Amino acid sequence: MKFFIDTADLDEIKQAASWGILSGVTTNPTLYSRTGGKLADFEPHMVKICQIVGKDVPVSAESTAETTEDMIAEGRRLAALAPNIVVKLPICEESLPATHQLASEGIRVNMTLVFSAAQALLAARAGARYISPFVGRFDDIAEDGIDRLNDVVTAVKNYEYGYWEQEGGPEIITASVRTPNHVVKAALMGADIATVPFAALKKCVHHPLTDRGLEGFAKDWAKVTGQA
Ligand code: E4P
Repeated sequence: MKFFIDTADLDEIKQAASWGILSGVTTNPTLYSRTGGKLADFEPHMVKICQIVGKDVPVSAESTAETTEDMIAEGRRLAALAPNIVVKLPICEESLPATHQLASEGIRVNMTLVFSAAQALLAARAGARYISPFVGRFDDIAEDGIDRLNDVVTAVKNYEYGYWEQEGGPEIITASVRTPNHVVKAALMGADIATVPFAALKKCVHHPLTDRGLEGFAKDWAKVTGQA
């Protein structure tokens, strides 16, 4: 299981990268707007992220284009910003041909807003390098997001697609992650990647028994050093 960070915040990305666990970054328009960034700064901001994480770490930059032609044009422009840019497109009738065209040019697409195995199979067949099924948004409406993720992982891994197999694709990115339990359940079913917001990533580091253990060691060590 690889960890991506789901944020556009440069400090969060730097901190997660410093932990030595970071295999990728995903952003979306909402996450970018939370940084206070404006349209003119969007592409330079994506370049900054690419520079922080290094050229071998994929960074998903989401297109807001609405037609196939505009998605292809924006995808080419985004991909030209840095070698590690992945073009993020929402699954829809316009994005499937755009994905197919971009894949044929060797441009990686992360197909997002995926909520069903049928959508994921179409994304893989069109040539998506990454497929992002959302978990938390099902939980938000009292449905079982992990169960839906399991359908996606099982269905997609049943086949080969002829695009990105030489580099291990198409890979499933567990998205819309809210809790460490989402990460664990995704890993147990063999999802390739979890993209995790920084707050949830920090929760993955901690455990109440670890914290209690550390307090105990600190108290006992104070006795050893005579500072108790
Ligand atoms: C990542 O690629 C997605 O855009 C993100 O995980 C969505 O998360 P949300 O459901 O919390 O908005």
